[in-house]
Amino acid sequence: MRARRLLPLALAATAPATTALAQQRSAVVPGAHDALLAAGPQAAHIGALWNLTVFICTAVFCAVLIGLIVALWRSGRGRENLAPDLSSIGRHERGPYLSVLWSVGVSIALLLVLVAASVVTDRALARASLDNAITIDVTGHQWWWELKYRGDAPADNFNAANELHVPVGRPVVVRLKSDDVIHSLWVPSLAGKKDLIPGRTATMSFRADRPGRYRGQCAEFCGFQHAFMAFEVIAEPPAQYDAWAAAQRRPAPEPADATTRRGRDVFLGSTCIMCHAVEGTVAAARKGPDLSHVGGRSTIAAGTLPNRPAELARWIANPQDFKPGANMPATALSEDDMSALVAYLGSLK
Ligand code: CUA
Repeated sequence: MRARRLLPLALAATAPATTALAQQRSAVVPGAHDALLAAGPQAAHIGALWNLTVFICTAVFCAVLIGLIVALWRSGRGRENLAPDLSSIGRHERGPYLSVLWSVGVSIALLLVLVAASVVTDRALARASLDNAITIDVTGHQWWWELKYRGDAPADNFNAANELHVPVGRPVVVRLKSDDVIHSLWVPSLAGKKDLIPGRTATMSFRADRPGRYRGQCAEFCGFQHAFMAFEVIAEPPAQYDAWAAAQRRPAPEPADATTRRGRDVFLGSTCIMCHAVEGTVAAARKGPDLSHVGGRSTIAAGTLPNRPAELARWIANPQDFKPGANMPATALSEDDMSALVAYLGSLK
């Protein structure tokens, strides 16, 4: 019922501004989204299997085509001035029979190689070393990613959203859950796809061997804004990652000036706190992304918009302009309150 009410509304909201929006929203997440650009061992295994698949499928295609050509070549010919020879129908023709047999045999043998290669790849992925791995709980929501970094001690835990920072060279174990419908986590440069299914916990692991930004995307249709459920894996040298994680573990920074102080008052006095958390304040709701360090993220709304003051203000004023159907409602604020709020959120690094 809700979806039926939302859809016409959402369509009406998107229709006039589609082109401008598309331009604004495209290329927001700049990292590579390329399954052939492996940045770690898991993706390299899958890349190798893909190359073999292309080679074998091409070989099967050629075997079938060659079999067909040879069979046609060896078949009896008709002549223009003779009546068609119908006596060959039902007669066993050895030449064409053999060429069909050969191409079927070669195809089966090649496809068996593919089966074996799939099993070998699967085992290699299952056996990849997970020593000294970091663990991140990833929960899919319509339409954003909740991240909970899990350390050895409770004090090591912290929350983030949509941007996964990971250390280069260290395995990462991701535990996948969903809060609503089925989503699918896919960072082609690092690992294969894995579904997030409500009521279940799945795990996947990867390792980034090169620093960089790797684009990810929800790969399972999960509703109206499925296409705008992107995220990014940011692989950093270990020291840089440790510094980032240490900063994330701290509560949100205190406002440093009058504007950000006012921004915090606006935040705590508005409906923001019914969905969002900012560590160190009374805001502790977990319905929407944790905002304790939102100023350090490069995008907002799961890769939908760049995290700049102008875009952030427009997003807060009316998220439905950018992501029709998203759960975040519009927030009406005076111009001064809005710029103070945006300054405060920007200061949360
Ligand atoms: Cu989440 Cu598609």
